[in-house]
Amino acid sequence: MPPDELHAAHGNWQDRLLHRPVCDLLGCRLPLVLAGMDGMDGMGGVGGVACAELAAAVAQAGGFGFLGMVREPVALIREEVAQLRAAGVARFGVNLIPSATEPALLAAQVDACIDLRAPVLGLFWDVVPELIRRVVDAGMLVVQQVGSVDDAHRAEAAGAGVLVVQGVEAGGHVRAVQPLVQLLPEVLASARVPVLAAGGVSDGADVATLLALGAQGAVLGTALIATHESFAHAHHKRRVVEADAWQGVGRVDAVVGAGEQLRRIAAEAAQMLRTAADEPPPIELSSPVCYAREFELTRDDAIDRASLAAELDALLEGARAAVRLTLSDCASVEGAGDVQSQLATLRRDEVKWCGMLMAALQSMGAEASTRTSPFLAEAASITDPGERLAALLRRRQGDATQRLRALLPQVVDERLSDGLAEMLRAYQRG
Ligand SMILES: Cc1cc2nc3c(=O)[nH]c(=O)nc-3n(C[C@H](O)[C@H](O)[C@H](O)COP(=O)(O)O)c2cc1C
Repeated sequence: MPPDELHAAHGNWQDRLLHRPVCDLLGCRLPLVLAGMDGMDGMGGVGGVACAELAAAVAQAGGFGFLGMVREPVALIREEVAQLRAAGVARFGVNLIPSATEPALLAAQVDACIDLRAPVLGLFWDVVPELIRRVVDAGMLVVQQVGSVDDAHRAEAAGAGVLVVQGVEAGGHVRAVQPLVQLLPEVLASARVPVLAAGGVSDGADVATLLALGAQGAVLGTALIATHESFAHAHHKRRVVEADAWQGVGRVDAVVGAGEQLRRIAAEAAQMLRTAADEPPPIELSSPVCYAREFELTRDDAIDRASLAAELDALLEGARAAVRLTLSDCASVEGAGDVQSQLATLRRDEVKWCGMLMAALQSMGAEASTRTSPFLAEAASITDPGERLAALLRRRQGDATQRLRALLPQVVDERLSDGLAEMLRAYQRG
């Protein structure tokens, strides 16, 4: 079945697994965001890689697009916004970098964005509190990309409504000095606003893993350069496709349509987060109604919502500890074949449990925890990778098995119960 028909048939099922509150804030279906990429030539006036055509293709596939307008003249911003609107895209962002822009031009760009009623302004590099406040006061949502916890605090205090945490793996302008997997949890620990993650995201497994870690979505830059709609030079697109392994770039192997690329990534991410309980029904039976139902907790003797949410959070924090440990170990024990493949399998499972638990919490109207269980610190203190993995497995198996056995008889909802039972069986198999 062609990807578009497959999406039409199964889209609701995928959307339910991927949807996060940030989607409602931005006004998109999928938590996948096109980075506001400029032309990287320092000239201005030629248009960014993230042009109206690319932002429109991303929005039409369900994601959210930023126009890369750094150092671009106001006339071009107006043209690009008009082109996006003519393509039927109402929700989009304009990306600017204050410190890279001459002050008079920056002031004119910001005035134009306000005047055009652009819904979202994306900012990067220095955090400029007075600029954020001004734009928020004018009614726009500010999305600030940061490369440190300090910058995250300052941006949020000034009124940024969404943070993008950039890891050192990112392409283009890189503010961060830490890998994404390190910096993201540090920012999540204190952020009160939704957090997106950027840096090296090139497939659905990356997206699912970032969602499992607590990000509400992923920002894609390089992965959308080699698309028909991007304004990157043909030579740049070719270099991205030909690159062997540069930040995930090795996984971009052809110039494709941006919508197709986004739908592929979304489908892979949903597939990775899916448990057997999420199995889509036969295509002819699919309808929005059957996926929209909430978890039901109606029996009198069932666990109350707050206690259920606390238990699901505890399971989530444990699964997240395993995801984080397997990620850092995969990076540090390169080459050790057996341990590597065990780590990859373990991570896949734990990402799936995170997805199932977060979907359950979201469906109950509860906010999923962004914390990580202290198992992580305990296991991380063991120096030998094999022993560390064994200790983590023992600890996870003991804790999760005990919690799941106690919880399962009290859960009324069939889908949640099936998902938790699948998790328990996996731990019992060891
Ligand atoms: C070619 C290119 C140009 C970029 N230009 C900008 C920019 O103008 N403004 C901005 O906020 N970020 C810019 N970035 C960084 C992105 O916002 C984002 O952090 C990065 O693309 C994420 O990493 P990835 O490329 O591995 O997906 C650029 C990235 C690339 C690859």
